[in-house]
Amino acid sequence: MKKSTQTRNNSIAVIGLSFGDEGKGKITDYLAQKADIVVRFQGGNNAGHTVVHNEKKFKFHIMPSGAVLEKEIVIANGCVVDPKVLLEEMEKLRSFNKSIHLKLSSTAHVIFPFHRILDGLEEQAKTEYRVGTTKRGIGPTYADKAARYGLRIFDLIHPELLKKKLTNLYRIKSKLIQYYEPDWNEDFEAIFEEYKGYGEKLKKYVVDSAYFLNKAIDSGKKIIFEGAQGTLLGIDHGFYPFVTSSNSNALGISCGTGIPPKKIGPVLGVIKAYTSRVGKGFVPTELKNEVGDKIREQGHEYGTTTGRPRRVGWLDLFNIKYSVMINGVKYIAIMLLDALEGINPLQICIGYEMEGRVLESWPIHPEKVKECIPIYKTFKGWETRPREEWQRIAKEGYESLPEEIKKYVSFIADELNTKIGMLSIGPERDSTIVLDEFF
Ligand code: GDP
Ligand code: IMO
Ligand code: MG
Repeated sequence: MKKSTQTRNNSIAVIGLSFGDEGKGKITDYLAQKADIVVRFQGGNNAGHTVVHNEKKFKFHIMPSGAVLEKEIVIANGCVVDPKVLLEEMEKLRSFNKSIHLKLSSTAHVIFPFHRILDGLEEQAKTEYRVGTTKRGIGPTYADKAARYGLRIFDLIHPELLKKKLTNLYRIKSKLIQYYEPDWNEDFEAIFEEYKGYGEKLKKYVVDSAYFLNKAIDSGKKIIFEGAQGTLLGIDHGFYPFVTSSNSNALGISCGTGIPPKKIGPVLGVIKAYTSRVGKGFVPTELKNEVGDKIREQGHEYGTTTGRPRRVGWLDLFNIKYSVMINGVKYIAIMLLDALEGINPLQICIGYEMEGRVLESWPIHPEKVKECIPIYKTFKGWETRPREEWQRIAKEGYESLPEEIKKYVSFIADELNTKIGMLSIGPERDSTIVLDEFF
């Protein structure tokens, strides 16, 4: 009989528990100091992950955030890849003198220009159910994957396959675009030549990522699975239809990488100290007032990918509780606590009331959520302080935090029945307080 090997804590999943932009990039970069490999397993360049270190700001859309530390990075099969954006991001990183150790899955799907066009056209057709997508072609590319005429990276790097399959896809997609815009016509040869060129450039990075990752994990390598978007934006368990097109939760890791669930370590759920959301979809705790404006300015809440102002609201623990359940979250990281400075009092949503009834669980359907009234608990806020003061606190650790923050975060952890893994009080790598060494 084979001896059992314990591989669980060699890997960790960094998962957003809300509507994205929770600070996954910062946490992944922090944890990557101890990792060998950082993996993206879903989504595409709709993501915008920010890493700040030594006064430099890195913005990642498709590359895993571990790239700042020059770790091995994997774009796994569950992702959709715009090769132009990937090559641009690699170029940008090289301009910072960073070496790139990329593995690109041969079974990830490819985003083409007509996917981006269709993303915009389909949005218009959705009327009141418009999602407010990033218009990066994410939805149409995943739709083609499910329809089984999408092209994969393997096709991209084999010109004869690219030509054959792209001819087919182009024919179908042009008809669809012409349904919306009868005069549309983009030269097939130009798209083919452009993508053939991308294939040539990317060929050397392409691997069977499921095999590569399983081998790595079995040999004891430390791996971070970096989620994109957030659990409530997930296609199966999110706020459908106001979601993205992949499983942006821990359940997506196995499908998106080919690593069996038993080899995937604990889930670190990332939340902000408040709620933020870009795109459409009702947010019960939204603050459409001066308090919301103040949080937006203090947290620099403008989209990393599209630059759109993010909608801001009180922390909603009721929908996050649902995310904790879906992901099996063990640890949480609470981010942007500094961005709430000077706001008093603070509120946290702990439940919803609908038609005079207190609900037992988050009602999932947008039509139902719209009918809900949040139930709040009030907290005393903490004072504004200069940046250097926050940095001093980060250096000294948990004990130096204002008592009001300690009460706020303890309540969150208790309410969610999770442990606090990390607290973040600034965008820089060292503005992080670690409470539990779980990785
Ligand atoms: P992601 O998509 O989850 O990686 O998050 P984004 O990078 O899109 O958005 C989070 C933003 O908050 C970025 O601008 C980060 O630099 C910033 N950030 C992360 N943690 C903190 C924090 O604790 N305090 C402040 N002030 N900013 C933070
Ligand atoms: P990160 O990884 C926040 C939102 C869009 C839109 C919906 C669908 O930085 O957290 P899509 O282009 O995916 O079809 O858009 O999802 N969205 C995000 N919101 N952060 C993101 O990524 C997002 N990626 C997509 O605004 O509402
Ligand atoms: Mg983001």
